[in-house]
Amino acid sequence: MQQTIGVFDSGVGGLSVLHHIRHTLPHHRLIYVADSGHVPYGDKTPAYITERSHTLTRFLIEQGAHAIVIACNTATAAAVASLRDHFTLPIIGMEPAVKPAVAATHRGVVGVLATIGTLESARFAALLGKYAGAVEIVTQGCPGLVEQVERGELHTPKTRELVARYALPLLARGADTLILGCTHYPFLKPLIREVVGENITLIDTGEAVARHLKLRIQSELPPHFSPATLTPDAQFFTSGDVVRGREIMSLLWGNEVEVRALPLPFA
Ligand code: DGL
Repeated sequence: MQQTIGVFDSGVGGLSVLHHIRHTLPHHRLIYVADSGHVPYGDKTPAYITERSHTLTRFLIEQGAHAIVIACNTATAAAVASLRDHFTLPIIGMEPAVKPAVAATHRGVVGVLATIGTLESARFAALLGKYAGAVEIVTQGCPGLVEQVERGELHTPKTRELVARYALPLLARGADTLILGCTHYPFLKPLIREVVGENITLIDTGEAVARHLKLRIQSELPPHFSPATLTPDAQFFTSGDVVRGREIMSLLWGNEVEVRALPLPFA
């Protein structure tokens, strides 16, 4: 059987995770849904995000997915428990990389950049309870940053101003390690690096999620066989504007991709 992995995010941010999945599982069929018609999730209610997550998961299963990756910290916080209750296939979520950041800090202060939805969630509080220990965790919600990435504004003055506004106060409070706790933010890494300087450690979870996905599907799914024909590139869908989606997803994916409209009733 050729295994198919379904991946979704509130928008194009989850492509930062899809890059790692493509690298880790080069012969798997990958289907990505950007819920850009409903972005951002960060300021939506958990009930709304849970409803969207169920809808997107149903679509991906209909497309043949054998496992689902929630390439979104905010949707994981709101919906992973409900999805796992409802669906029987492996569902891999993601959360801010508190454990590795706590191991990395020298000064004992870690900053977290994430959406308000993630920072206010019970899952995030539980994560801190489990891993923070004696390390001080300082957090910063980042309204507007996801929208800049959705617009492809990875290096504009407005994006720089937002990054400085959110990241610099965390450094002023002593953080030497910053967690990029939203999957859109790794696309801003060059800009964040410019703003915070070389001595700050930046940590995200994309690679760890891809490794975890590989272990889960190896242990829970029947063996994977690649078809004799060349594996196609990932397939991409969006609930937002298709022309814009194609432009921005091609930019972030690194080559020209075809993007299809998420059909009704899923959009
Ligand atoms: N990319 C998302 C995350 O990892 C959500 C961003 C949003 O839509 O607010 O949290």
